[in-house]
Amino acid sequence: MSPFTDQAVLVTGATDGIGLLAAERLARLGARVLLHGRDPAKLRAALARVPGSTPLIADLSDLRQVERLADAVADGPRLALLVNNAGVGSGGPSGRRETSVDGYELRWAVNFLAPFALTEGLLARAGGGPAAVVNVASLGQAPLDLDDPGLEQSYGGSLAYARSKLALVTWTLDLAARRPELGVNALHPGTYLDTRMVRDAAIAPRGTAESGADAVVEVARRTVTGEVRGVFFDRDQPSRALGEAYDPKLQERLRRVAQAEVERALQRDAGGVART
Ligand SMILES: NC(=O)c1ccc[n+]([C@@H]2O[C@H](COP(=O)([O-])OP(=O)(O)OC[C@H]3O[C@@H](n4cnc5c(N)ncnc54)[C@H](OP(=O)(O)O)[C@@H]3O)[C@@H](O)[C@H]2O)c1
Repeated sequence: MSPFTDQAVLVTGATDGIGLLAAERLARLGARVLLHGRDPAKLRAALARVPGSTPLIADLSDLRQVERLADAVADGPRLALLVNNAGVGSGGPSGRRETSVDGYELRWAVNFLAPFALTEGLLARAGGGPAAVVNVASLGQAPLDLDDPGLEQSYGGSLAYARSKLALVTWTLDLAARRPELGVNALHPGTYLDTRMVRDAAIAPRGTAESGADAVVEVARRTVTGEVRGVFFDRDQPSRALGEAYDPKLQERLRRVAQAEVERALQRDAGGVART
């Protein structure tokens, strides 16, 4: 029997690319899939491809919507698995700096702050949050600058993407150390796979989106079965992230920076002004 049979599984960014294919596979393996998307029309199209799934809508560049997403998930059955897959790519060579609804650099916000807020928010709620978490990161990693997480001094799309992904891996390892009961791993799903993110960056794809979904599902299997935890995978092989991701002091500092950014965003009123 599949370890996903009758298990509630949430996949973020399940409206396209690797996330949609992984959601289809998890459903075929018996999971009760919660499909997350931000665009109602794309979410309807995805639902038609994943029979029996449940839709959840939230723009992950808005931390209030992330919080509402956590509330909606917490109202349902306990998650056996959360796959933090949604992400924004580098934007290509001419990509300009963009900001989230909360005013944070967009890649930092969607690729790191949103999965951080969703997962930590669920774990902090009564009911215990997910039993296992898989973070879809990347081999594209760059050292963090926590004095300038928004790259306000000097911006590059690839640098912003790579920092957001190293932050995601660093927090994955922090979670694994802090929460011994939680199955948690991160992975690089493959290099320049044929998805919209890669095509939008004007990069010639070198692999299929299907191979990325295969890697996500295999790492998910090893995570929910407790076979391995606290590991960064290169596709389905245990690998090594950039060295600083393993530094407990950096992990703690990153967690504090992220917590403060999330709290600040949630204290803003609807007009975007911080409440005093
Ligand atoms: N493709 C690769 O070669 C590769 C390599 C390394 C890592 N990855 C990682 O794999 C993951 C999946 O990427 P992909 O290649 O499958 O890209 P994709 O086809 O562009 O899919 C990205 C998904 O994220 C969602 N998303 C983006 N911004 C969002 C926001 N603000 N709120 C909610 N959802 C949002 C998209 O929603 P919409 O459908 O509404 O746009 C889509 O469902 C990402 O984390 C990416 O960084 C990919």
